[in-house]
Amino acid sequence: MVHYLMNTYARLPVALVKGKGAWVWDVDGKSYLDMVSGIAVCSLGHCHPDVVNAVSEQARNLFHCSNLYIIPQQEHLAELIVNNSFDGRVFFCNSGAEANEAAIKLARRYCNERKQGAAKIIAMEGSFHGRTLATVAATGQARFRQGFDPIPGGFEIVPYGDIDALLDAIDEDTGAVLLEPIQGESGVHVPPDGYLRQLRKICDEYGLLLILDEVQTGIARTGRFFAYMHEGVEPDIMTMAKALANGFPAGAMLAKPFVADAFTPGSHASTFGGNPLAMSAGIATISTIMRDNIVDKSLQQGMYLMNRLHELERIHPSIKEVRGRGLMIGVDFDADVSSLPSDGLSKGILLNVIKGHTLRLVPPLVISSQEIDQAMDMIDDILKEKGL
Ligand SMILES: Cc1ncc(COP(=O)(O)O)c(C=O)c1O
Repeated sequence: MVHYLMNTYARLPVALVKGKGAWVWDVDGKSYLDMVSGIAVCSLGHCHPDVVNAVSEQARNLFHCSNLYIIPQQEHLAELIVNNSFDGRVFFCNSGAEANEAAIKLARRYCNERKQGAAKIIAMEGSFHGRTLATVAATGQARFRQGFDPIPGGFEIVPYGDIDALLDAIDEDTGAVLLEPIQGESGVHVPPDGYLRQLRKICDEYGLLLILDEVQTGIARTGRFFAYMHEGVEPDIMTMAKALANGFPAGAMLAKPFVADAFTPGSHASTFGGNPLAMSAGIATISTIMRDNIVDKSLQQGMYLMNRLHELERIHPSIKEVRGRGLMIGVDFDADVSSLPSDGLSKGILLNVIKGHTLRLVPPLVISSQEIDQAMDMIDDILKEKGL
């Protein structure tokens, strides 16, 4: 079956062909409660009718239009993003890595033009920013760089959450600081309270750009529209993707006007970025999130899930820690739980495990309390069966 595919994924033996809300079905009609949502992508649940209608209607009118021409839907989605974050200008692309690549290029261009070439970017240990060469260079996990030398330079990696280490790393070549407000791919790590506020202050003091990668945390995942809002400070550049169009490939970089000015026609581009189909999905996604108060739902259901997990923690000694914000939650085990995703398949639940020890729960934000209860029962059963 995988004869013709590049060997880049260790796939679970299931083919999912249908989805509705927090549920998906495989080719044999078996249902699964989705606690992964395409890794924090389908926040409104699978096949949300408003997104389906918007994409279907747009598909009947115009699939693709080059950025050589005006694409009115881009202006509409950019306005929705800005109205729900901070004033700036948006560049559209197709994925998280591309959004970060655009952010790195914009920061470099700004620093080369306005900061006499001081363009080094400080990034964080344990971070994940994508799989392009520049984004793996910015990623603070050596395993993603392994075998890909020569890796582009101009990045320095410091421990996440450590202000002194950051201050030590700043020198006359530094131009920007890049980080996730909560680290997702390394196992849902929430930095100490006040960390972002301190970073903002340091960036202002030293004239550095603050770049936030909200690819995983953005668009209501953590109980705020963007995770930086938990700390009440704004970045200069911010990236998003994953949940932006509820599963239709779309990414975006938003930058404050003073930085955005560094891009002029020809500086950066994407054939598919911002195409009408992706934009229609994005407009429907954000409009629905706002109309249906999904940010509050993420916060409330996140607290409900967190409480239910604390109950599990009391009866399963292998659970070491439960952490996260909104519906982005990591459960640390002091045992190897890498078989949980395949155990979940037989029970009828999709689960994701990071580095063998952390169960990452990022269900659709529309998940009901009853569905969370069902998920907890299934996880409880699996842990009991495995003696965990
Ligand atoms: C924080 C963060 N940045 C960037 C990426 C890369 O996004 P994509 O896979 O869409 O390129 C991810 C993907 O997991 C992510 O979590």
